[in-house]
Amino acid sequence: MSEIVMDRIRENLEALKMKHTLEILDNYLERAVKDNLNVIEVLDHILMEESRHKRKRAIETQIQTSGFPMRKELGDFDFSFQPSIDKRQIDELATMRFLDNGENIVFLGPPGVGKTHLATALGLAAAAYRRSTYYINCHNLIEQLKKAHYENRLPDRLRVLGKYKLLVIDEIGYLPMDIQGANLFFQLIARRYEKVSTIFTSNKTFSQWNEVFADVTIASAILDRVLHHCTVINIKGESYRLKERKEFMKQKQHIVNTLFEQGQN
Ligand SMILES: Nc1ncnc2c1ncn2[C@@H]1O[C@H](COP(=O)(O)OP(=O)(O)OP(=O)(O)O)[C@@H](O)[C@H]1O
Ligand SMILES: [Mg+2]
Repeated sequence: MSEIVMDRIRENLEALKMKHTLEILDNYLERAVKDNLNVIEVLDHILMEESRHKRKRAIETQIQTSGFPMRKELGDFDFSFQPSIDKRQIDELATMRFLDNGENIVFLGPPGVGKTHLATALGLAAAAYRRSTYYINCHNLIEQLKKAHYENRLPDRLRVLGKYKLLVIDEIGYLPMDIQGANLFFQLIARRYEKVSTIFTSNKTFSQWNEVFADVTIASAILDRVLHHCTVINIKGESYRLKERKEFMKQKQHIVNTLFEQGQN
């Protein structure tokens, strides 16, 4: 093939933003000639690879903009350590049907039991499922909404936060919230209600949410909407952080003992 034609192909690939094909073209054509592939096979391979690459990049961008503090997958979760969790229930949530139905999920439980891990894993799965996903810690969310209110751009902020197909609000009840904060939180929940899904995590029981939201009326209005179409996962168990710390201390003690014994001999 003449260099002029090859240059034109490269220019067109660039203009069509087929970056991956541009990268693999020379090597692939060489191999295709060697393997005696026909035109259809070559075209099929190039288009398959380009669309696979584009899909992968779109997922990666979605994950990067979703703001998760850690990359944790369901496969990293040790269900045997947390028997109060029904794995089948988590597997059902991982099908993403809850997203299509605009349902919510609440993870409740004491520190270290895996609430953020599971919320993150489902959130990352939603991003991979190509649904707009955003993670935010509850305290930061309230700060953001308050700032938007003072800068007269609350409707815009609520519109953006209201539109995510999945919003993960982590750590409800860790820091105190005033009435204004609870009011802003309510506005967001009311806007998302029955349209799009939200995952919440909290170390407080629902009966303690009255204190979390500083006002009984607002708290019950929030709870009513959150729980209407919702899966609640109540985790009762030991902290995984503590288990890791215990194992670390055991290993350290073992090393100290071994060194001591070696010193004795
Ligand atoms: N069953 C588990 N299997 C594997 N890793 C786990 C498990 N449970 C928790 N972890 C890990 O332990 C650490 C703490 O878990 P995580 O942050 O999800 O806890 P949490 O319930 O959100 O706690 P907190 O209320 O303090 O925010 C994370 O690194 C998480 O990946
Ligand atoms: Mg957490």
